Amino acid sequence: MTVEQIKATIASIPDYPKPGITFRDITPLLQDGDAFAASIEYFAERYRGSQITQIAAIEARGFIFGAALAKALNCGLTLLRKPGKLPGEVLSQRYQLEYGSDELQIRADSLDKNDHVVIIDDLLATGGTVAAAVQLIEQTQASIQEAAFLVTLDELPGEQKLQQQGVACYTLCRF
Ligand code: PRP
Ligand code: MG
Repeated sequence: MTVEQIKATIASIPDYPKPGITFRDITPLLQDGDAFAASIEYFAERYRGSQITQIAAIEARGFIFGAALAKALNCGLTLLRKPGKLPGEVLSQRYQLEYGSDELQIRADSLDKNDHVVIIDDLLATGGTVAAAVQLIEQTQASIQEAAFLVTLDELPGEQKLQQQGVACYTLCRF
């Protein structure tokens, strides 16, 4: 399956969640077994044979792709979670949303300087979410190979924001 064919399974929902916004809906892609498997295989091909020790996946939709990719690469899965979900000592990072803010957390002992990490999420928009993930992982001393996304929204500054943090970006589909 080509990347264009995978992209064609992503639905575009006009005026959701607000007038003027086009929502890129990955649920039809997930329901298409061939498209889901092919998207994971594109990511896996990219990282197979590299020294990646952990896939760091961002709650919630990043978990879907992160878990499947970690399984395909036979490496670990590190969870970047919304607040109040992880036991023990955690590192926290707040980030801005269009209205208000949110927070990501990671277990303080989940990564160390020997880890080589790929961050994964379903979608890159403003880059606020992944920037928080980068800041958390940097605090653990792990090295970040790059951040990977199923979808990047080209009209928003997510890629530039990642670039400013010195993190490379890989994306399968662009809108
Ligand atoms: C969505 C999406 C990305 C993030 C991208 O998550 O899954 O994680 O927004 O936006 P940004 O680049 O502007 O930060 P959201 O928290 O809305 O929902 P989810 O918990 O369903 O993943
Ligand atoms: Mg998300």
